[in-house]
Amino acid sequence: MEEIIVFDDVVIIPGFSPVEPSKVDLSTNITTTIRLSIPVVSSPMDTVTEYGLAAKLARLGGIGVIHRNMSIEEQLLQVEKVKKTPPEPLANDYMDPNRTVRLERTNGSSRIVIDEPESVHIDDIQEISSYLRTVSAYTLKPSTGQDGRLAVGAAVSPFDYERIEKLDKIADLLVVDVAHAHNRNVISSLASLSKKLRSDLVVGNLGTKQGVLDMLSRIENVKALRIGVSSGSICITGEVTGAAAPTLWAVMQARQALEELGLFGKLPIIADGGIRSPSDMAKAIIAGASAVMLGRYLAGSKEAASQLVIIGGKPYKTYRGMGSLSAIQKRYAADRYGKPAKRISEGVEGLVEYTGSIVELIEKTIGTLQASLGYAGASNIKEAWRARLGKLSESAKKEVKPHDLVL
Ligand code: XMP
Repeated sequence: MEEIIVFDDVVIIPGFSPVEPSKVDLSTNITTTIRLSIPVVSSPMDTVTEYGLAAKLARLGGIGVIHRNMSIEEQLLQVEKVKKTPPEPLANDYMDPNRTVRLERTNGSSRIVIDEPESVHIDDIQEISSYLRTVSAYTLKPSTGQDGRLAVGAAVSPFDYERIEKLDKIADLLVVDVAHAHNRNVISSLASLSKKLRSDLVVGNLGTKQGVLDMLSRIENVKALRIGVSSGSICITGEVTGAAAPTLWAVMQARQALEELGLFGKLPIIADGGIRSPSDMAKAIIAGASAVMLGRYLAGSKEAASQLVIIGGKPYKTYRGMGSLSAIQKRYAADRYGKPAKRISEGVEGLVEYTGSIVELIEKTIGTLQASLGYAGASNIKEAWRARLGKLSESAKKEVKPHDLVL
């Protein structure tokens, strides 16, 4: 029987570090053609990625994938809004239209000038300051597509040809959004449409070596793989159906398939589901991923496409699985091509802590991810693929956490 390992079963084995952690280069390819400054992709979920989050993430060097729980017209509009956002923030993006706040740049340094301080919210100022600090500290470049505008992805069903045709004209990535893509109908549908696409096709989700081999033997023009089944924080697939290919293990499986085909390092793996922290991100990367797809990690941010809920004075944001009952109901109301493939719900909904602006979250994430890869002995993502993970014994799991304290 196969042994399945998950993030908590492994540690990063320290390796010789050629550079200081702050110099670790996190740039990566999200597809064979699109390069990112940071290996972060937001999940196409209706409580996570709409244009607000996608635009800010792209400005920071990541990329967002607009969810498909809306009409084709609405999804097109969301993608267009990202495309219309200038790649660099203007002060009045954050502020009122009277431009009481200006971003001035001189000789490579920038400063924020506030003409009427009483008209501006301090949170906005903090956010733009943090953006400037992050971008210059880590030399991040906005992610752009071939059109020179901010890059953005769009989630699609492999059977929704009208949606695919329309979004293909404007999105940079089309991200196949099915829980189990290792399926005869999904593969046949993708095989016929993949030849005609302008944008980059990301296929998934897949969880096994055989799944990747079967997919790649039938489909041309695959530009990245979306890997992981059942690890999502809101996922009950494993519990309900008993089926799972947890993300870390699934990435290793995908890597084996790509190594066999001579494609490892050329065709990017996007690790999707269950990534809770920069250390999980680092483990996924060391296992072979080029980037990570994040739902829960970004769901508490101000920009996530969800409601803010205050309970007992404490702020939370709503977060739900795309296979949860309420998300399914919304999808079949909005999508005329939708037909339930299964008669069960595979996700749950709940609240997550409000974490403030995505800009500050990404700033902290980069610092910790650099430290993790520094420990691994890597100065960039390619080198991280040569680093080592070690499996912990049950007693080792206890020892690597805080222990033996009275209080
Ligand atoms: P995290 O852990 O980042 O996971 O919140 C996000 C990923 O979970 C997947 N997803 C689901 N999986 N039922 C599932 O089995 C669902 O309802 C569901 N909704 C999202 C998806 O891959 C996402 O990127």
